[in-house]
Amino acid sequence: MDLNQRLKDRVVIVTGGASGIGAACARRYAAEGARVVIGDLDADGAAAVAGPIGGIAMRCDHTDAAQCQALVALALQHFGAVDVLHNNAGTGWTGRFGDMPGEAARRLLEVGVMGPILMTQAALPALRRSAVPSGGALLFTASGLGLHGRPMIAAYAAAKHAVLGLMRSLALELGPEGLRVNAVCPGIVDTPLVRATTGGWGPTEQVLENFRLGTPLRRLVQAEDVAASAAFLISDDARNLTGTALLVDGGAHEA
Ligand SMILES: NC(=O)c1ccc[n+]([C@@H]2O[C@H](COP(=O)([O-])OP(=O)(O)OC[C@H]3O[C@@H](n4cnc5c(N)ncnc54)[C@H](O)[C@@H]3O)[C@@H](O)[C@H]2O)c1
Repeated sequence: MDLNQRLKDRVVIVTGGASGIGAACARRYAAEGARVVIGDLDADGAAAVAGPIGGIAMRCDHTDAAQCQALVALALQHFGAVDVLHNNAGTGWTGRFGDMPGEAARRLLEVGVMGPILMTQAALPALRRSAVPSGGALLFTASGLGLHGRPMIAAYAAAKHAVLGLMRSLALELGPEGLRVNAVCPGIVDTPLVRATTGGWGPTEQVLENFRLGTPLRRLVQAEDVAASAAFLISDDARNLTGTALLVDGGAHEA
């Protein structure tokens, strides 16, 4: 087996693939031989990532069931299958819980929880038909904040705890059908999301430096580090892993 081509010819849908962690995952999957389909609110950004890696992209708001169906239809039309769904798109908010506008909380949960639910429902029939011998795979980008709490980010932590509840329950429900369901749980990664939404914790550079100092390894997690773990989880190297929440946080959870 060519270990550099673990995902050869597998059709992988990545939501939120226009930027940050999702873009790094899309590039990594393609480098390992996958055919990548990106759905993102940012159509131009998604096309800019998909083009150079031989993938395809479309504007897709994963909180809208019809748009999720359209993304799956695009994958089937161009590549004839869906072997993996990586639910990655998300958004954030930091600040004092009592100050969070209700609408911001509603949107955060809509994007963070309803999006993955609707996208998964849309992709399930195709995932069940995957011809990959080890079966179709679902992957969620959760967070270290799906496993523990932190001040000034309660609604986001609630959304990520929900994602892990979804992941674990689907692993049990879909396992007998041969589908694997896992999550990657990054620590803080310097992405546009972090720069736009961690102001409630302080200036971004300070937030990143504090996090780095809080890791036993004293180094920040890169989007490419998350992508390497994600590629493992959707590959046959993880064929006996399901219901796993894999932390990629430099050991910060132990500190
Ligand atoms: N950056 C971090 O520190 C970090 C840590 C843990 C988990 N995460 C999670 O990683 C995922 C990716 O985050 P990122 O940091 O790469 O952010 P990012 O902002 O760089 O990328 C997120 C992408 O999701 C897209 N998106 C947002 N709402 C969408 C919607 N409704 N439908 C479709 N696409 C939508 C955005 O347009 C963007 O391209 C998120 O789920 C986030 O919660 C990030």
